[in-house]
Amino acid sequence: MLSLRTLAVTFSLALLSATAMALPAPAASCHSESVQVMGETREQAAGLARNLVKNTGVGTLMTIMNASQKSAVEGYPFGSMDYYVDDCQDGGKPLMLLSHLQINVQNARSSNHISLAIRKLPAEGEHGNPMVDPRVTLMGRLVPVEEAKQKKAEECFVAKHPEAKWWLPGAGFHDFKWYNLDIEEIYYIGGFGGIHYIGWIPVDTYYNAHLNNDKSSREMVEEESESLSLMLRQQTMFA
Ligand SMILES: *[C@@H]1O[C@H](CO)[C@@H](O)[C@H](O)[C@H]1NC(C)=O
Repeated sequence: MLSLRTLAVTFSLALLSATAMALPAPAASCHSESVQVMGETREQAAGLARNLVKNTGVGTLMTIMNASQKSAVEGYPFGSMDYYVDDCQDGGKPLMLLSHLQINVQNARSSNHISLAIRKLPAEGEHGNPMVDPRVTLMGRLVPVEEAKQKKAEECFVAKHPEAKWWLPGAGFHDFKWYNLDIEEIYYIGGFGGIHYIGWIPVDTYYNAHLNNDKSSREMVEEESESLSLMLRQQTMFA
Protein backbone atom coordinates (compact mmCIF):
# COMPACT_ATOMS: atom_id res chain seq x y z
CA MET A 1 0.00 0.00 0.00
CA LEU A 2 1.25 3.44 -0.84
CA SER A 3 0.99 4.93 2.62
CA LEU A 4 0.43 8.56 3.46
CA ARG A 5 3.85 8.43 5.03
CA THR A 6 5.47 7.38 1.79
CA LEU A 7 3.60 10.08 -0.04
CA ALA A 8 4.72 12.62 2.51
CA VAL A 9 8.36 11.55 2.18
CA THR A 10 8.11 11.84 -1.58
CA PHE A 11 6.44 15.19 -1.26
CA SER A 12 9.05 16.44 1.22
CA LEU A 13 11.92 15.20 -0.91
CA ALA A 14 10.45 16.82 -3.99
CA LEU A 15 10.19 20.05 -2.06
CA LEU A 16 13.73 19.67 -0.79
CA SER A 17 15.24 19.15 -4.22
CA ALA A 18 13.12 21.88 -5.78
CA THR A 19 14.19 24.31 -3.10
CA ALA A 20 17.82 23.23 -3.01
CA MET A 21 18.18 24.47 -6.57
CA ALA A 22 16.73 27.82 -5.65
CA LEU A 23 18.89 28.28 -2.57
CA PRO A 24 22.50 29.34 -2.15
CA ALA A 25 24.89 26.48 -1.39
CA PRO A 26 25.29 26.75 2.43
CA ALA A 27 21.57 26.71 3.09
CA ALA A 28 21.09 23.82 0.67
CA SER A 29 23.69 21.66 2.43
CA CYS A 30 22.05 22.45 5.74
CA HIS A 31 18.80 21.13 4.32
CA SER A 32 20.31 17.92 3.08
CA GLU A 33 21.64 17.28 6.59
CA SER A 34 18.13 17.47 7.91
CA VAL A 35 17.13 14.80 5.40
CA GLN A 36 19.60 12.39 6.99
CA VAL A 37 18.10 12.82 10.46
CA MET A 38 14.54 12.40 9.19
CA GLY A 39 12.05 10.76 11.46
CA GLU A 40 12.20 10.42 15.23
CA THR A 41 11.87 6.95 16.67
CA ARG A 42 8.71 6.26 18.62
CA GLU A 43 10.72 6.60 21.85
CA GLN A 44 12.05 10.00 20.81
CA ALA A 45 8.56 11.03 19.77
CA ALA A 46 7.33 9.96 23.22
CA GLY A 47 9.89 12.28 24.82
CA LEU A 48 8.86 15.12 22.53
CA ALA A 49 5.22 14.47 23.37
CA ARG A 50 6.06 14.62 27.09
CA ASN A 51 7.83 17.94 26.50
CA LEU A 52 4.91 19.29 24.54
CA VAL A 53 2.45 18.35 27.30
CA LYS A 54 4.74 19.80 29.96
CA ASN A 55 5.47 23.07 28.19
CA THR A 56 2.08 24.00 26.79
CA GLY A 57 -0.64 24.23 29.47
CA VAL A 58 -3.53 24.92 27.08
CA GLY A 59 -5.48 22.40 25.07
CA THR A 60 -8.82 21.61 23.49
CA LEU A 61 -10.86 19.37 25.77
CA MET A 62 -13.35 17.20 23.91
CA THR A 63 -16.30 15.03 24.90
CA ILE A 64 -19.34 13.43 23.29
CA MET A 65 -22.58 15.41 23.46
CA ASN A 66 -25.32 14.04 25.66
CA ALA A 67 -28.95 14.54 24.58
CA SER A 68 -29.77 16.13 27.93
CA GLN A 69 -27.47 19.02 26.93
CA LYS A 70 -28.81 19.48 23.44
CA SER A 71 -30.75 16.66 21.83
CA ALA A 72 -30.17 17.91 18.26
CA VAL A 73 -26.44 17.21 18.57
CA GLU A 74 -26.46 14.05 20.67
CA GLY A 75 -23.38 11.97 19.87
CA TYR A 76 -21.54 14.87 18.23
CA PRO A 77 -18.01 15.64 19.42
CA PHE A 78 -17.79 18.84 21.45
CA GLY A 79 -14.49 20.66 22.00
CA SER A 80 -13.50 23.73 23.92
CA MET A 81 -10.23 25.32 25.04
CA ASP A 82 -9.12 24.74 28.60
CA TYR A 83 -6.13 25.08 30.86
CA TYR A 84 -4.28 22.07 32.19
CA VAL A 85 -0.87 21.51 33.73
CA ASP A 86 1.50 18.59 33.71
CA ASP A 87 0.72 17.17 37.16
CA CYS A 88 3.65 17.79 39.54
CA GLN A 89 2.66 14.72 41.55
CA ASP A 90 2.19 12.47 38.58
CA GLY A 91 4.42 13.65 35.71
CA GLY A 92 2.99 13.38 32.21
CA LYS A 93 -0.60 13.29 33.41
CA PRO A 94 -2.72 16.39 32.72
CA LEU A 95 -4.21 18.04 35.78
CA MET A 96 -7.30 20.18 35.20
CA LEU A 97 -9.52 22.48 37.19
CA LEU A 98 -13.02 22.20 35.75
CA SER A 99 -16.47 23.48 36.57
CA HIS A 100 -19.44 21.15 36.63
CA LEU A 101 -21.28 23.86 34.72
CA GLN A 102 -19.10 23.22 31.67
CA ILE A 103 -20.60 21.22 28.82
CA ASN A 104 -17.53 18.97 28.78
CA VAL A 105 -17.91 18.04 32.43
CA GLN A 106 -21.65 17.48 32.02
CA ASN A 107 -20.97 15.22 29.04
CA ALA A 108 -18.25 13.33 30.92
CA ARG A 109 -20.75 12.39 33.62
CA SER A 110 -22.66 10.13 31.30
CA SER A 111 -19.86 9.25 28.89
CA ASN A 112 -16.37 9.53 30.33
CA HIS A 113 -14.62 9.39 26.98
CA ILE A 114 -12.29 12.36 26.83
CA SER A 115 -9.79 13.77 24.38
CA LEU A 116 -7.38 16.58 25.06
CA ALA A 117 -5.67 18.01 21.97
CA ILE A 118 -2.52 20.00 22.60
CA ARG A 119 -0.47 21.89 20.08
CA LYS A 120 2.78 23.79 20.36
CA LEU A 121 2.03 27.43 20.95
CA PRO A 122 4.36 29.99 19.39
CA ALA A 123 6.67 31.65 21.89
CA GLU A 124 6.23 35.36 22.43
CA GLY A 125 7.14 37.25 19.27
CA GLU A 126 7.32 34.00 17.31
CA HIS A 127 5.10 33.48 14.31
CA GLY A 128 4.69 29.73 14.67
CA ASN A 129 3.68 27.33 11.96
CA PRO A 130 0.76 25.18 13.10
CA MET A 131 0.96 22.71 10.21
CA VAL A 132 4.62 22.01 10.81
CA ASP A 133 4.66 22.20 14.62
CA PRO A 134 4.03 19.13 16.81
CA ARG A 135 0.65 18.31 18.33
CA VAL A 136 -0.67 15.49 20.43
CA THR A 137 -4.10 14.10 21.29
CA LEU A 138 -4.46 12.38 24.65
CA MET A 139 -7.49 10.13 25.08
CA GLY A 140 -8.76 8.80 28.37
CA ARG A 141 -11.04 9.43 31.32
CA LEU A 142 -11.47 12.30 33.77
CA VAL A 143 -10.77 11.14 37.31
CA PRO A 144 -11.28 13.36 40.38
CA VAL A 145 -8.06 14.13 42.26
CA GLU A 146 -8.08 12.56 45.71
CA GLU A 147 -8.37 14.97 48.63
CA ALA A 148 -4.83 14.37 49.96
CA LYS A 149 -3.37 15.55 46.66
CA GLN A 150 -5.48 18.67 46.17
CA LYS A 151 -3.27 21.14 48.03
CA LYS A 152 -0.23 20.24 45.93
CA ALA A 153 -2.42 20.20 42.80
CA GLU A 154 -3.38 23.78 43.53
CA GLU A 155 0.26 24.89 43.90
CA CYS A 156 1.22 23.13 40.73
CA PHE A 157 -1.64 24.62 38.74
CA VAL A 158 -1.24 28.19 39.95
CA ALA A 159 2.52 28.09 39.28
CA LYS A 160 1.70 27.66 35.58
CA HIS A 161 -1.55 29.65 35.45
CA PRO A 162 -1.37 32.39 38.13
CA GLU A 163 -4.78 33.85 37.18
CA ALA A 164 -6.43 30.54 38.13
CA LYS A 165 -6.21 31.70 41.74
CA TRP A 166 -9.51 33.50 41.08
CA TRP A 167 -11.43 30.31 40.44
CA LEU A 168 -9.73 27.87 42.79
CA PRO A 169 -12.08 25.76 44.90
CA GLY A 170 -12.62 27.86 48.01
CA ALA A 171 -11.97 31.17 46.24
CA GLY A 172 -15.68 31.96 46.07
CA PHE A 173 -16.60 29.63 43.25
CA HIS A 174 -17.97 26.32 44.43
CA ASP A 175 -18.34 24.59 41.15
CA PHE A 176 -14.66 23.99 40.25
CA LYS A 177 -13.05 20.63 41.01
CA TRP A 178 -9.70 18.97 40.36
CA TYR A 179 -9.39 16.23 37.77
CA ASN A 180 -6.64 14.19 36.19
CA LEU A 181 -6.90 12.94 32.67
CA ASP A 182 -6.14 9.25 33.03
CA ILE A 183 -4.48 8.62 29.67
CA GLU A 184 -5.46 5.50 27.73
CA GLU A 185 -4.25 6.29 24.22
CA ILE A 186 -1.89 8.84 22.69
CA TYR A 187 -1.73 10.03 19.10
CA TYR A 188 1.23 12.22 18.20
CA ILE A 189 1.84 14.27 15.08
CA GLY A 190 5.42 15.52 15.08
CA GLY A 191 4.92 17.63 11.96
CA PHE A 192 5.05 16.54 8.36
CA GLY A 193 5.09 12.77 7.88
CA GLY A 194 8.36 11.31 6.67
CA ILE A 195 10.20 14.06 8.48
CA HIS A 196 8.54 13.51 11.84
CA TYR A 197 6.90 10.67 13.73
CA ILE A 198 3.15 10.47 13.20
CA GLY A 199 1.25 7.78 15.03
CA TRP A 200 0.18 6.14 18.26
CA ILE A 201 2.51 6.12 21.23
CA PRO A 202 2.01 3.43 23.88
CA VAL A 203 1.12 5.01 27.21
CA ASP A 204 3.99 3.32 29.09
CA THR A 205 6.48 4.50 26.45
CA TYR A 206 5.16 8.01 27.04
CA TYR A 207 5.46 7.79 30.82
CA ASN A 208 8.90 6.18 30.64
CA ALA A 209 10.22 8.68 28.12
CA HIS A 210 12.97 11.00 29.18
CA LEU A 211 11.93 14.57 29.35
CA ASN A 212 14.14 15.98 26.70
CA ASN A 213 16.19 18.45 28.63
CA ASP A 214 19.24 18.15 26.48
CA LYS A 215 18.60 20.97 24.11
CA SER A 216 20.43 19.48 21.17
CA SER A 217 17.78 17.01 20.06
CA ARG A 218 14.95 19.44 20.65
CA GLU A 219 16.74 22.14 18.75
CA MET A 220 17.49 19.70 16.00
CA VAL A 221 13.80 18.98 15.55
CA GLU A 222 12.95 22.65 15.76
CA GLU A 223 15.56 23.51 13.17
CA GLU A 224 14.04 20.91 10.91
CA SER A 225 10.64 22.49 11.38
CA GLU A 226 12.18 25.85 10.62
CA SER A 227 13.78 24.68 7.41
CA LEU A 228 10.61 22.93 6.33
CA SER A 229 8.48 25.97 6.97
CA LEU A 230 10.99 28.06 5.04
CA MET A 231 10.65 25.63 2.15
CA LEU A 232 6.88 25.78 2.34
CA ARG A 233 6.90 29.54 2.33
CA GLN A 234 9.18 29.60 -0.70
CA GLN A 235 7.07 26.98 -2.40
CA THR A 236 4.00 29.14 -1.84
CA MET A 237 5.79 32.22 -3.13
CA PHE A 238 6.84 30.46 -6.33
CA ALA A 239 3.55 28.68 -6.87
C1 LIG B 1 -27.18 11.38 29.00
O1 LIG B 1 -27.22 11.79 30.34
C2 LIG B 1 -28.26 11.19 31.08
C3 LIG B 1 -28.25 11.83 32.46
O2 LIG B 1 -26.95 11.85 33.02
C4 LIG B 1 -28.05 9.68 31.14
O3 LIG B 1 -29.07 9.05 31.86
C5 LIG B 1 -27.99 9.14 29.71
O4 LIG B 1 -27.68 7.78 29.71
C6 LIG B 1 -26.96 9.90 28.89
N1 LIG B 1 -27.01 9.47 27.50
C7 LIG B 1 -25.98 8.88 26.91
C8 LIG B 1 -26.21 8.50 25.47
O5 LIG B 1 -24.93 8.65 27.45
